[in-house]
Amino acid sequence: MDGRDLVRSMKAVGSAGAAQRLRTVRAAWRRRRADAGGLPARGTERARVPGQVQEVEPAPGGGTVRFSRSELRIRVTVSGAVFWGWDGAEPEPSYALAGRCPEADPRAVLEPDKDGGWRVVAERVTVVISRHGAIEVRTPGGVTLRRDLPPRWWEPQHGGPGRWMQRSEVAADARFFGLGGRASGPRLREGTYRLWNTDPGHAFDRGDDPLYLTMPVQLVVADAATHLAFHDTSWDGTVTLREGEEGAGSGHDRAGTSELRMDGGPLRCWVMVGTPARVLLTWASLTGAPALPPAWALGHHHARWGFGSEQEVRRIVAGYQERGLPLDAVHLDIDHLDDHQVFTVDQERFPKLPVLAEELRRDGIGLVSIVDPAVKAEPGNAVYDSGVTEDAFVRDASGRLVEGVVWPGEAVYPDFTHARVRRWWGGLYAERIAQGFSGFWHDMNEPTSFTAFGESTLPRSARHALEGRGGDHREAHNVYGLCMAQAGHEGLRELLPEKRPFVFSRSGWAGLQRYGGTWSGDVATGWPGLRVSLSLVMGLGLCGVPYSGPDVGGYDGSPSPELYLRWFQLGAYLPLFRTHASLRAGRREPWEFGAEVLEHARVALVERRRLLPYFMTLAHLARRTGAPYVRPLWWGSPEDRALRDCEDAFLLGDCLLVAPVLDPGTDRRAVQLPRGLWYDTATGKAYEGSGQVLVDAPLARIPVLARAGAVIPVRGEDGSLELEVWAPARGRTGGGLVVQDAGDGWEEPEVERYAARWEAGRGVVVEREGEDGVREPSHPVRVRGLGGEPQT
Ligand code: GLC
Repeated sequence: MDGRDLVRSMKAVGSAGAAQRLRTVRAAWRRRRADAGGLPARGTERARVPGQVQEVEPAPGGGTVRFSRSELRIRVTVSGAVFWGWDGAEPEPSYALAGRCPEADPRAVLEPDKDGGWRVVAERVTVVISRHGAIEVRTPGGVTLRRDLPPRWWEPQHGGPGRWMQRSEVAADARFFGLGGRASGPRLREGTYRLWNTDPGHAFDRGDDPLYLTMPVQLVVADAATHLAFHDTSWDGTVTLREGEEGAGSGHDRAGTSELRMDGGPLRCWVMVGTPARVLLTWASLTGAPALPPAWALGHHHARWGFGSEQEVRRIVAGYQERGLPLDAVHLDIDHLDDHQVFTVDQERFPKLPVLAEELRRDGIGLVSIVDPAVKAEPGNAVYDSGVTEDAFVRDASGRLVEGVVWPGEAVYPDFTHARVRRWWGGLYAERIAQGFSGFWHDMNEPTSFTAFGESTLPRSARHALEGRGGDHREAHNVYGLCMAQAGHEGLRELLPEKRPFVFSRSGWAGLQRYGGTWSGDVATGWPGLRVSLSLVMGLGLCGVPYSGPDVGGYDGSPSPELYLRWFQLGAYLPLFRTHASLRAGRREPWEFGAEVLEHARVALVERRRLLPYFMTLAHLARRTGAPYVRPLWWGSPEDRALRDCEDAFLLGDCLLVAPVLDPGTDRRAVQLPRGLWYDTATGKAYEGSGQVLVDAPLARIPVLARAGAVIPVRGEDGSLELEVWAPARGRTGGGLVVQDAGDGWEEPEVERYAARWEAGRGVVVEREGEDGVREPSHPVRVRGLGGEPQT
């Protein structure tokens, strides 16, 4: 046993006491014993490469290329994405795909290439397969974006899953992003990133890797084009990245490389090519449109582990109301449960939860419940008993229930990879709905088991249904949180068909956005943690999960007033804006940090509320296009290399550029602007991009710039929708989209399209564009930025 691990796990269980500590030791031994008996030893392995091309068989969208020791299926789909699979791997079954694999594009055909190779030419991409099994992805203009070397397998001589490795090269100027939520991003520099969802067991910081939500999705941005590569395999693996280098003058470029090593699973890959917007659209059409949050979920959420009683919740809510601070959601953590058991309520401290929920609802505040997957293993506990009757829990190879240790002590885990179990679990949310909850916060679903040594999850040998195919935790681990989110989301759709479910989940995988969002988990309180929280939101957005945000103030400590405020100001511009902290950490209410912080936090809260119609519009656009609300600065101009390296600011939709303060003692900061004219929304000062400018960043606010010509839907003083329009540059036009939706149902509001332009004698004119021509805007218009002389 490693002593450091023991100390770490003791900290993880903290005040839970000696009995809990003893459980974690026992759980660790159980885990080790299960794997020793339940997993075959690898033994001697044999290496394999595809060999030489033997023959090909065309099929719609591509075909099959047979090599002497493997075969490759390749298919371009009508969505423009390319799929290829080795050893006969097909796109299905897949946990990532939203439905069936898209149709093949009949125009893409397999044809001979040079040197005995083959190629598939499609509208947006050409794929060239060498006679040894290297695969090149090229733009229609013939520029190579990615070159996969022939893969390599290592297979146990006596059968069982093989390991494999896929090495790829990308352009020397390319930058890597994605791989899920990474603390060291958003730009992923040289390093090895593990693909295994992990609860680090402590508040994490920059450099902690992996975290709760990983996925084999990389977005690669280069001069020639952007592409996304997804290896559809849920097994444990690593990706080793190395950015390339351009041969400054010498002419010798060193390619960037990505080396993916997987412990098992099919070797199959999807690639999509184009602009960032096009790539994310194709990705969302493959893996599913992001769920639309109800309007209240786009406001401010206040959570705490340790409200401890209904009275305390009321006191905090009153604290917001008395001070005129907007509040839209309250989250109850595990302390409101009976003995930490999921789907129960501590009747002593929360005797009338439905009444409290109703009071909150009347004030426009949603009540959100934590939902942990592990169920206290105790006969008499209703959820446990019903799960046993359903045969819902994960078993080991010998058929015994797998026990781990979580907050309620010894616990068992539903097998969410079984449709029947998902249905059973989804039905349990009826209890939460009866208590008055309208949102759900899935936690500890990597899944976590506190353990004194080794990995803090289930044994790898634990058995899972995997939709009837059968398999073990090596394959099911990374999709556990995803399948739990599916269970929750689908259950809620049945229980409350007229409402859009609100689920966000700590763990997940490719496709999580179909069911909900995520949050950054237990980020360490400190200035590095602030930076990390932005990295996670940006990285996840580029993997197709647009709704997320950090615990404002950090999870584990007591932030200084300045740090708290800067975190709060950043959070106000992220999709999930939530204050939260550990039981053992300092408080997070805005009035806990002195009068000055309170005043500035109020400004951030009021501005968030004013921007709600814009956030709602971004949520609708994310659902229709896959574009994240929070986008890197290079989103619209990926060829701008300075923007590619800029990690400390972001675009909020098309209209706003947010430049958070990420360092102490700052009152001015440099901002790298994309091309065009930008207005500082606080001062009205105009700046000409592209290039770097210095802007004021007093404690009172973080810099937010509006793109000239932007039409932004905002909430007016009387609560109705208004259009805030930033004057286009002289001689230029502008515009924006508006989706009006203040609800939580399924109605499909139309997308209003606005154009802004200068007209002689009339100044800035804003018109609503429709199929039958232009008309007056449907909302009052306020033009800003008039007279701002550009500064460079
Ligand atoms: C986990 C969650 C955290 C929560 C705590 C207690 O650490 O990440 O948000 O407060 O569990 O439920």
